[in-house]
Amino acid sequence: MTKIKPQSIMTIQFDRQYPYYLEDRIKDINKSGVPLSEFNYRLANFCIDYWSKEGDTIIDPFAGRVTRAVATEKLNRNYIGYEISPDTHMRSINHFEKIGINPTLHNSNGIWMKETNDGVGDMILTCPPYFNIERYETVPGQLSDYFKYDDFLRDIRLSIRNSYRVVKNESFSCWVVADVRNFHRWGGLLDLHGDIITLHKLEGWRHWDTIILPYAASNSYQIHSAKNNGYTSKVHEYLLVFRK
Ligand SMILES: C[S@@+](CC[C@H](N)C(=O)[O-])C[C@H]1O[C@@H](n2cnc3c(N)ncnc32)[C@H](O)[C@@H]1O
Repeated sequence: MTKIKPQSIMTIQFDRQYPYYLEDRIKDINKSGVPLSEFNYRLANFCIDYWSKEGDTIIDPFAGRVTRAVATEKLNRNYIGYEISPDTHMRSINHFEKIGINPTLHNSNGIWMKETNDGVGDMILTCPPYFNIERYETVPGQLSDYFKYDDFLRDIRLSIRNSYRVVKNESFSCWVVADVRNFHRWGGLLDLHGDIITLHKLEGWRHWDTIILPYAASNSYQIHSAKNNGYTSKVHEYLLVFRK
């Protein structure tokens, strides 16, 4: 088992030990043909190595496509994921079979995680929909279909409560999120990372760490449209870490 040498979170972007994106992965586009966001494979490896140990069980209430599952299995941990979209779920299962791994992936609601008993997990690693700025397959419970931000936060809070239920004491929980601009309503910035920190604390988690994840600069169009509207285009996400 290749031991990842300790390093600062800022260098992970440049660690050639892992591809930034999983080579063999499921690429996706949304209804208007725009590529859907991809989870950073290097970041997945860093989080799993940093906040869990071999043999641990990692739970992911919002699985998306396969990146975190593959990283978990390749680092000799066990993966339990939840993906509400039947289409994404089926294609992930087919992908796992194709690459010869067998993580657990439920086509079920990650808000409740009803298939997972109390205290079986050792870590939470996830990336929820960022409210409704990126839309996924429309099915009951699809968080990216929510129109009201308060309704979205209400159910995110339930997933945080059930994340607490399914892991052991002293377990870490890592959420990758970004703040979002509420274009549908008043156009202001929704402090999603701040709200997720507040909700975790309300559900008994200890806020353990906040890491700024810089990513590639915005394109010129984003920069200009932002300037024309008096705000800046975002070039970072947050890695939020909590402890039970
Ligand atoms: C941020 S996305 C994942 C995309 C991301 N870049 C990734 O691969 O990590 C979150 C995923 O959560 C799924 N999802 C939304 N609401 C859910 C729910 N209530 N339970 C489980 N999965 C859900 C969506 O279908 C989407 O595939």
